[in-house]
Amino acid sequence: MKILVAAGPTREPIDPVRFISNRSSGKMGYAIASAALKNGHAVLLVSGPVAIKPPAKAKLVRVVTAREMLSAVKANLPKCDALIMAAAVSDWRPAKISKVKIKKHRMPRALPLARNPDILRIVAGEKGKRIFIGFAAETGHLRAEALRKLRAKNLDLIVANDIRRTDAGFEADTNRVTFFSADGKQAKLPLMTKEKVAERIVAWLEKERRRRSINDRLKPATVLRKIR
Ligand code: PMT
Repeated sequence: MKILVAAGPTREPIDPVRFISNRSSGKMGYAIASAALKNGHAVLLVSGPVAIKPPAKAKLVRVVTAREMLSAVKANLPKCDALIMAAAVSDWRPAKISKVKIKKHRMPRALPLARNPDILRIVAGEKGKRIFIGFAAETGHLRAEALRKLRAKNLDLIVANDIRRTDAGFEADTNRVTFFSADGKQAKLPLMTKEKVAERIVAWLEKERRRRSINDRLKPATVLRKIR
């Protein structure tokens, strides 16, 4: 498969010095890219600014803002079979970007914000037969929120992590996730390294792909049987 993986945070500039962002280190997304490459897939890695080294064999597209990430995902999706959005996209950006450093005493007390695009929702219309996997970063109501996002974003699988824990979610080397799939199945995985979580995600994707190709191959036979 050709797999598009989006990883890391986005940064939304306030001025040339300051920005709004989040704590994503890129570890989860980069681990998925490595696991996919190890299994022989081609990987296009769209990455926000992170301090870790990308896997050598991934085709890397570096982005900074959510809008740049959206453009990179949109441009590369047509040549991919699957999309895995592990990136922590900033939902908001400063409404205005100052070209010069804002002086301390000139900084407004409240910063006007504008909504950023929801990448998964936007590309949902271009999904076709592709397999889409998203993440849900939650501080409560994990199952309900994950299922809501699974449906709203037209995903095949959502990987939910409880980001209140220090051994899971942002920055940690480990993660504790639950898979919720569109067919109603649920699988809670124990605490494991992000590399192991990544292997499980890639394994799920491969199984789903095999299931679909078997179904596709069976379809003409079913039609013939009906004709006879
Ligand atoms: O990078 P690490 O330090 O290893 O941390 C990993 C992680 C915590 C970032 C990762 O495991 C994770 O949970 N990534 C998703 C974070 C997130 O933004 O979750 P969300 O519940 O807000 O968004 C739901 C889904 O929509 C995600 O797949 C997200 O990529 C996508 N999204 C969100 C906002 C937006 N504007 N566009 C999107 O496409």
